[in-house]
Amino acid sequence: MLGFNSESLHIITLGVFAFTAMMFVTLFFFDAPYGRQDGEETSKWWGPNIPVRPSWIILEGPVFFAFLLFFFDGSNWLHPIPLILFVLFEGHYFHRTFIYPFTLRSKPGAGFRLGILAFGVPLNAANGFINGWYLGEYADHLYQISWLWDPRFITGIILFIGGFILTKQSDRILINLRKPGETGYKIPYGGAYKLVSCPNYLGELIQWSGFAIACWSLPGLAFFCITLANLLPRAISNHRWYHDKFTDYPKERKALIPYLI
Ligand SMILES: NC(=O)c1ccc[n+]([C@@H]2O[C@H](COP(=O)([O-])OP(=O)(O)OC[C@H]3O[C@@H](n4cnc5c(N)ncnc54)[C@H](OP(=O)(O)O)[C@@H]3O)[C@@H](O)[C@H]2O)c1
Repeated sequence: MLGFNSESLHIITLGVFAFTAMMFVTLFFFDAPYGRQDGEETSKWWGPNIPVRPSWIILEGPVFFAFLLFFFDGSNWLHPIPLILFVLFEGHYFHRTFIYPFTLRSKPGAGFRLGILAFGVPLNAANGFINGWYLGEYADHLYQISWLWDPRFITGIILFIGGFILTKQSDRILINLRKPGETGYKIPYGGAYKLVSCPNYLGELIQWSGFAIACWSLPGLAFFCITLANLLPRAISNHRWYHDKFTDYPKERKALIPYLI
């Protein structure tokens, strides 16, 4: 109905992989200027700061709406497995877009630079498009009910739910570090912070690896790669930042992967 076909899906999926590869390399050299990495001279190159709540809605809304639109535009969405995956994907993105931003106690002036939104919005819209369109139209193996007991589906769903719980628990610990009105940074303790500096990122990676495995699709893999490209360099940068800022930062803690990285 919207004029896209399987070729559009392939081209945009390849484009997402190519953009993600460039982003991965770039983010090892330049921190995306938001949160604790904002405020340096170079951040100004990225344009004005958009306040934190609208920023999250502008950035994540395109994933939510593109997925919604293209999933229901497909002719095969009315099958149990695509619908389960729809609920998981959109449940996460509904929370991330419309609830999470209102739980934050960010410092005054926090938000995303316009330049970040200019890169992030098309990438996120493309991600919503390829995953929604694939699941609603082309995921032939997912339209068979036998996929419900395929080990890939079961493993993927367990990883997704486990990752979701880890992300939410870790985000909560981080947000609650500040009492209402406080703006500084503290060392987080509790939960998986015992092992790594960024368990919220680890949870997110586990979650989307689970989604990719449960879907067993290139668009699902592309989304996992986007998450890795964003969060691995960020976790390393956050970890370094904690060590520079706090002399008593726990030495045994790793950045992202327990005992490894
Ligand atoms: N799928 C993806 O590609 C992707 C990409 C990015 C983020 N995410 C997810 O989005 C969520 C948020 O990511 P994020 O990078 O914004 O997380 P973050 O840097 O850890 O910050 C989250 C919130 O906690 C506050 N905060 C962070 N560290 C703190 C500390 N030590 N003491 C006090 N407050 C602290 C931040 O305040 P300030 O704003 O004042 O720093 C912000 O309000 C995470 O769950 C992440 O996994 C996903």
